[in-house]
Amino acid sequence: MRPPGCSGDTAVRTIAVVNRKGGSGKTTTAVSLAAVLAERGLPTLLIDLDPQGSASTWLADARHDRGNDDPITETRDLRSIARKTTVPCLEIVRSSAGLLAAEQARKAELSLGVLRAIERLPANWAFVIIDCPPSLSYLSIGALMAVREVIIPVEAHAIGLTGVAAVVREMGRIQSTLNPGLRNPLIVACRVNRTLHARQVVAELDRTYGWRLARVTIRESIRLAEAEAARLPITASAPDSGACLDYRLLADELLERGELPEPIPRGVSRWRRLFTRSAHVAAAVPSSGLQR
Ligand SMILES: Nc1ncnc2c1ncn2[C@@H]1O[C@H](COP(=O)(O)OP(=O)(O)OP(=O)(O)O)[C@@H](O)[C@H]1O
Ligand SMILES: [Mg+2]
Repeated sequence: MRPPGCSGDTAVRTIAVVNRKGGSGKTTTAVSLAAVLAERGLPTLLIDLDPQGSASTWLADARHDRGNDDPITETRDLRSIARKTTVPCLEIVRSSAGLLAAEQARKAELSLGVLRAIERLPANWAFVIIDCPPSLSYLSIGALMAVREVIIPVEAHAIGLTGVAAVVREMGRIQSTLNPGLRNPLIVACRVNRTLHARQVVAELDRTYGWRLARVTIRESIRLAEAEAARLPITASAPDSGACLDYRLLADELLERGELPEPIPRGVSRWRRLFTRSAHVAAAVPSSGLQR
């Protein structure tokens, strides 16, 4: 059942927001995109899969401490741990400190736990947006096995260019081994300011990635940092700001791009798929272990 006041005629779209580079705008994009989708009456679930818990701190009630257990993979139904936010139609599954310990202890098994938790999601939401940690960790791999779409936010700086090429290659590998249903990633240039350097970086992204680069760019704006500090989504703290407009345009573009019908191939049992995938998880997570 979708919450009252939220529209109920859309299929669920699952989107992981990933980039191995820290501070590239993943959390800002996940939170702001989720907020502008919810603003339109689209029931949206934000899953904070990063043990740092930045999205949880931004949106969830500060009085509730993030526990030491691992609720995301412990529960059989994410609905039971989804919490309302101050934004109608936007719910959040908070991160917990226990995710980091679970990652170190359970490794590939944790990826499968995340996969199952997301696969079991009921059709309560039109969008499920997952804020991933800044690494291709077991948590991120679990999300990438389960979702159909990926957004890669890239800081409009030369240093962001090298990182994005590696992430795009990794998405290709995940597509061919762990998740054939994964669509090509949507790259979003973030923190775009008026400098020539930023323009050159966006032009380079355009040359390299063409249609995979979002037409919309997200401008550099102090309003986003202020929104996070105020623990409000940009739609509430600065609804008329340019940054909020950018994220609304990104939501438009996302809705416009729609979802192509790419069904997971039938004929192979779910458990067989899980078993085959588990063999690939270890290969997908860099051998150096958990990179932060
Ligand atoms: N468009 C923007 N304009 C100005 N500041 C921004 C913008 N996007 C993000 N920031 C700021 O950059 C910092 C990093 O952003 P964010 O937390 O979204 O990155 P991240 O990729 O989630 O980082 P991490 O890898 O640590 O999870 C934050 O202080 C945020 O306020
Ligand atoms: Mg983050």
